[in-house]
Amino acid sequence: MRFIRYALLTALILLTSSLLIFAHGDEPHDEPEPAASVTVDFVPTYYGDVKPILSENCIGCHTPGQIAGDIDLTDDFVVQSSADDLAYLTSIRYMPPWMPSQDSLPMQHDRSLSEYDIAVIAAWMEAGAPSGEAGDYVEPEAHYNLAEVRADQILQLDEGYMPEEGVDDDYRCFAFTPDVDVPVFLTGYDFLPDVAAQVHHGIVYLVDDSALADITRNDGADGRPGWSCYTGTGVNSSREEFVGTWAPGTLPTLFPAGTGYKVLPDDIFIVQIHYNLLQGRQADRTAVHMQYEAGDSDLLKLATFELQGPVEIPCPTGVEGEQCEREWAIQRATELYGENWINFRPDHLLNECGQTITDYADNVGEDATTHCDYDIPLPLTVLGAFGHLHELGKSFQLELNPDTDDALMVLDIPAWDFHWQDRYQFQEPLQVTFGDVLRMTCNWDNTLSDDPRYVVWGEGTRDEMCFATLMVIDPRP
Ligand code: HEC
Repeated sequence: MRFIRYALLTALILLTSSLLIFAHGDEPHDEPEPAASVTVDFVPTYYGDVKPILSENCIGCHTPGQIAGDIDLTDDFVVQSSADDLAYLTSIRYMPPWMPSQDSLPMQHDRSLSEYDIAVIAAWMEAGAPSGEAGDYVEPEAHYNLAEVRADQILQLDEGYMPEEGVDDDYRCFAFTPDVDVPVFLTGYDFLPDVAAQVHHGIVYLVDDSALADITRNDGADGRPGWSCYTGTGVNSSREEFVGTWAPGTLPTLFPAGTGYKVLPDDIFIVQIHYNLLQGRQADRTAVHMQYEAGDSDLLKLATFELQGPVEIPCPTGVEGEQCEREWAIQRATELYGENWINFRPDHLLNECGQTITDYADNVGEDATTHCDYDIPLPLTVLGAFGHLHELGKSFQLELNPDTDDALMVLDIPAWDFHWQDRYQFQEPLQVTFGDVLRMTCNWDNTLSDDPRYVVWGEGTRDEMCFATLMVIDPRP
């Protein structure tokens, strides 16, 4: 076991994401079980029963101009002619997208439909999708809407960045100074990928001015905006904070009410973008909208903890060859990632978790699981959590005090989907303290790979991660 690495106190920065190994098919893989049926003893109609459910739960994303506006669920004709699809997608809980199971802590902005609503849509479809009368429609009181983040500053390059030629993956860092004269709180952000097909992930770091010398030296040194960076910012800084992450499915984010990350005028934002170039190369001007509040308001300061677990994924049973050897995978990663990789070497990650590779002797490629237990070093107020695996991921869990009477599931994602990675915020803050143990568990299926090999930690196309961040109230004065 080990202590939680404190993001602000170490220079170790962790990265997220990899490339699309599989095209995002229309069909969800690993479909969850259909919801247990609730009986509906009347014939629901579109206007009387179904439209209010869609207004409340779906159109926040499915209105023209929103993220899934091409499927316009405010269009009564479209909806009524797709009753089968709607009933199916809601019954398997593919829509609305919401990954945590009901075993998780209650979350804010929970988008999942109630079993009753699912049953109403199913009964409506089975009855032949009757319309009812337009006058029966009653506007629901509550709506799920995407968070609206004010753009008090926009982090964006003046000219597009053309990713490097001749590589599949380009990791590039760009520096921006906060446009403020006095300290502020960052209370939300919205990451807007420009060339969506090639922006694979983004991280917003906050560093202090001790990084200035490195940044000045690196920035533009190869004649192009920014600098190349892998597993972090590529600069030294006495303070470094992970304030924003974006991966597919991360929606505009407002931090919990009454909290924010403290930003000083001399601080510097570093935006790290992972470009995947398998589908071509285009100049990119991704933007990040930053929302600020006055620095003298009595908001609570946020901090981020990072949890990194072992990744040991053998080839599926029956697949053999050199690429299935762990040594081969380590050799490959060492050649690709060099020294930067040192803190994520497989033996290092195992060692940090008090394990050795023999603990994973029974791991098989089609169902590879790793875990790490973290001793909580001090009393902490945890407000939310983000889990991260790549395309081979099957499930993810964070559990407090596992195997005890006080065991508490914090975040349970039973059917991992690379395309829906949210930063979940708990309804009630979770208090943890010295003596508590937090366990992170990750599970993968290597048969999902079209070219299976032994997989270890890495950011790239063929790598995986078992990674989480915890959003906490900063325990330091
Ligand atoms: C948080 C945003 C969001 C919400 C809320 C949401 N959707 Fe979607 N929906 C999407 C996105 C993004 C896609 C396209 C990508 C995908 O299929 O995952 C999509 C796709 C769909 C599709 C097409 C699926 C396919 O396989 O072609 C249907 C139908 C749909 N949604 C119905 C619904 C219904 C019904 C609801 C409410 C009960 C809902 N959605 C709520 C974001 C959302």
